[in-house]
Amino acid sequence: MKALWLAMLRWPTVALIVWGCAWALRIGLLQAGAGSGLATGAAVCLGLLAIVLVQGRWRRAIMALGFPLSWLLVLPGSQLPSWLWLLLLLALIVVYPLRAWRDAPWFPTPADGLQGLAEAAQLQAPRILDAGCGSGAGLIELRAQYPDAELVGIEWSVWLCLLSWWRCRRWARISRADLWKMSWADYQMVYIFQRPETLAPALEKAREEMRPGSWLVSLEFSAAGLAPTKVLQGAGRRPVWMYQMPEPVGRSRHKRN
Ligand SMILES: C[S@@+](CC[C@H](N)C(=O)[O-])C[C@H]1O[C@@H](n2cnc3c(N)ncnc32)[C@H](O)[C@@H]1O
Repeated sequence: MKALWLAMLRWPTVALIVWGCAWALRIGLLQAGAGSGLATGAAVCLGLLAIVLVQGRWRRAIMALGFPLSWLLVLPGSQLPSWLWLLLLLALIVVYPLRAWRDAPWFPTPADGLQGLAEAAQLQAPRILDAGCGSGAGLIELRAQYPDAELVGIEWSVWLCLLSWWRCRRWARISRADLWKMSWADYQMVYIFQRPETLAPALEKAREEMRPGSWLVSLEFSAAGLAPTKVLQGAGRRPVWMYQMPEPVGRSRHKRN
């Protein structure tokens, strides 16, 4: 039962449930004799109240705007045909397959967003993975930091994978893969820009697979309750959280090489 509740609260299921409830509320109120304004207003309020169920500005905006937008589209007299909704949804699913929704929407790493990374983690000709490389913006910033690195990008969305391949094909290896199903063992750094809730499982995976001394680097989101090894931050920039994999307990540093 608890698992069912947790699944319902996951993104994007929670948004679909809230929008469905908003429509059910509007229809129910209309059938009970309420005026159209009251019924629609109540449904809009439900969407607004439900934003507490999700984290992040974008998810909250999508949650709140879902019902009013769908209502505008089906409004009698609207110039927009209602099948447009279906078309938009299909386009979204093609560009952005459902598996990727739980981790992150498509926000690129901003230009200069990784400034200072190469000084903070000094690596000689490393192998670096951008796990979920989107349009390739993160790879471009990683290359600016580590020009001699072997850069690898993986992405679940076919279309974003193609875009990323097109932008980075001359100097990075891009392929379509699921970041959770591939091994991170051969990388000195894994870079992710996902969602707040992605960090804890990502750190667990990194600790299981990555070698001591290697780095998991996350733009913007940190793992709640776990102190990072370093943080790059400053006015007007998103923080970069850096987690270095620890030495196994009882292993002295000079025995490692
Ligand atoms: C916020 S974007 C970041 C893109 C890129 N790393 C950057 O910083 O510019 C996150 C990307 O991760 C991808 N993604 C989400 N879940 C994934 C998964 N399980 N496997 C591979 N890619 C995934 C999404 O499709 C999206 O393109």
